[in-house]
Amino acid sequence: MTVGIERLAVYVPQYALRLADLAVARGVPPEKLTSGLGVREMAIPAPCEDVVTLAATAGARLLRAAGVGPDEIGMLLVATETGVDHSKPVSIFVHDLLGIGPRCRVYELKHACYAGTAALMTAADWVRAGRERRALVIASDIARYEIGSAGEPTQGAGAVAMLVGSEPRALVLGEQSGTHAGNVHDFWRPLDRRAAIVDGRYSVDCYLDALSGAFGAYREAERPRLGPAEALSDRLARLLYHTPFPKMAMKAHRRLVEVDWRAAPERWARVAPRLDDAALEAYRELAAPGLEAVARVGNTYTASLYLCLAALLEAEGTALAGRRIGLFSYGSGCCAEFFTGIVGDAVETVADAGVGRMLADRTFVDVEAYERLVGAGEAGGDPPADFAGEFVFAGLRDHRREYRRPGVLAA
Ligand code: COA
Repeated sequence: MTVGIERLAVYVPQYALRLADLAVARGVPPEKLTSGLGVREMAIPAPCEDVVTLAATAGARLLRAAGVGPDEIGMLLVATETGVDHSKPVSIFVHDLLGIGPRCRVYELKHACYAGTAALMTAADWVRAGRERRALVIASDIARYEIGSAGEPTQGAGAVAMLVGSEPRALVLGEQSGTHAGNVHDFWRPLDRRAAIVDGRYSVDCYLDALSGAFGAYREAERPRLGPAEALSDRLARLLYHTPFPKMAMKAHRRLVEVDWRAAPERWARVAPRLDDAALEAYRELAAPGLEAVARVGNTYTASLYLCLAALLEAEGTALAGRRIGLFSYGSGCCAEFFTGIVGDAVETVADAGVGRMLADRTFVDVEAYERLVGAGEAGGDPPADFAGEFVFAGLRDHRREYRRPGVLAA
């Protein structure tokens, strides 16, 4: 049975900060952020937004674009690191806001930045089991680090909604995947904290080790088997990575091709003397085209890999139709997965996730305004005049979170 992503839709908050401005305010050379990390801009949510409103806006846009009625959804999975309650799932608020009917399996998934992939794989298996309806998977996150910390320039926010079913015009998922898991303390967020604790440089090492494990496992399982001069990356038109900041994807690609080429002795003998140049060429061709949007949004944790996918299909989906791409997902803690998919032959009919339009319409704020927005937290309340989202977090009443559409007064 053919299963995969039928269509994607993205929502990114209206406000954005230029990293060159942040660099000046923090007294670091702008090139350290724009070139050292590769981030140019980062998205900042308004106080009336949280992961529920981000997810619901992406979900509403997706259902509308796909012409799919809420009753056609038999499973709703929302993946996030940024849950709003220790017990009540983000997904049930989203279920309500999207008007999805009661005949639906609904839950939230958490595993740092990996949960979006866990949700996608679960949904694909659910469809493969012969369900008649579609699954809606939404990855939604707000990446927060302490002001002034090393992680601060790698913040961001956004949500990606994916319709998973048996008519995958966007990406036909392969059935094989390579996984890697291990208990590491590279990034975590205790229950009483709003910002993550991160051992940043260690997290980069954990990410790369997990990539070697997951990609190595996938490579061994590849069929037809690879010859002694053949790299798995030769069979892929693009490679997408979980991207907390674009330079991470560059490091990841360098690791992947090294593992790939070393495993092919004839290839390795040829490439080893010029490894750096060859890896850079491969990065420019296979990985860099997928990074444009993430450089302008920042880290969206569990949505990051799928923001790359949505933007890639929007930018060059037609040229990639029928071609196979590789995807690597990493969640701190950690679990990682490498998998592949074939871009649908009719991808041009679904390759508009709204990324370009949204990025073009954003409002840039200065560092003072950014610090005010971060300081306000998720206060809830009325949306700003230029609000681009479809739902707002109105606030708490009797410890209950209340949501509404802008312009619609609470009952
Ligand atoms: N011009 C250009 N590049 C510069 C520069 C300058 N003036 N100054 C520094 N750089 C480069 C460094 O060489 C380094 O590049 P490299 O990694 O290729 O060597 C890069 O900028 C980052 O600088 P560095 O000093 O190493 O680290 P940092 O203190 O800025 O922290 C992280 C980087 C990733 C550790 C930090 O952003 C972080 O903790 N992020 C959150 C965790 C995360 O995203 N982890 C990823 C795996 S999940």
